[in-house]
This record gives sequence, structure tokens and C-alpha cells, in this order.
Amino acid sequence: MKITVCRKAHFNAAHKLYNKNWSKEKNTATFGKCSNDNFHGHNYELIVKLYGEIDKETGMVFDLAKLKGIIKSEVEDLLDHKNLNIDIPYFNDKIPTTENLSIFIWEKLRKAIDIDCKISVILYETPRNFVEYTA
Ligand code: NI
Repeated sequence: MKITVCRKAHFNAAHKLYNKNWSKEKNTATFGKCSNDNFHGHNYELIVKLYGEIDKETGMVFDLAKLKGIIKSEVEDLLDHKNLNIDIPYFNDKIPTTENLSIFIWEKLRKAIDIDCKISVILYETPRNFVEYTA
């Protein structure tokens, strides 16, 4: 039987949305104040979902204490209080939108979670704006 287990996490990070191949005018027209030169911050809320089989011996899909540790080491320690554009090389050539950040987080988690399961990342950039990436 398959079921979904979930874990919430949180980090703060700064970014700006800016396409370096565009003029300042086009960036402002596209991204508005999110393209502000001097960056701005978000309180990101993260939900990680694992959809998989319940292990017969443990009764669990995945140990949530282990998932907590993986999210801390793979996501929070890397991103918390960082400037995504400057501190994270992945965003040298990608715009750190919630879409791209959720895929980045998904890829980090996929490498660290060693069971056969579907992983979903739900990332809230604001209380009302969020993105889901599942694969
Ligand atoms: Ni922003």
C-alpha cells in the first residue's frame, strides 16, 4: 500500500529576479520590484512529500527523523541566510524563481533519499504564492 509522508521546513534567503541578457528596463517591466539591484528577502516555507510503499518491517515509508536530517543538511544548511544569486553557483545561469529553486531543492533531495518513492517539493515564497514540483 502506498501513502504520502510529509515534512515541513523553513529557511530565509535573499534573491533578485534578473535576466542578465536583458536591459534594466526589460527586467523592471518583467519582474517589477523583484528585479531590484540590491536584492530582497523571503521567508521560505518548504514541504517535502514522499509517496511510497509502507515498509512491512518498520511500518514506515521513510523515517521522518531521517528526512528531517536530510532536509537540514541538503537544504537548510546550504540555503538559509544566503543570497541565492551570489552564494549558490547553480543560480549563476538560472534565475532564482520559486520554480527554479524548487527544482534545485528536489534534485538535492532526490540524491539523498535512497528509497523508491515519488518526491514532491512544495515551496512557499510568500504565504500565498507557492510552487509544487513532483517527479
Ligand atoms: Ni522575491
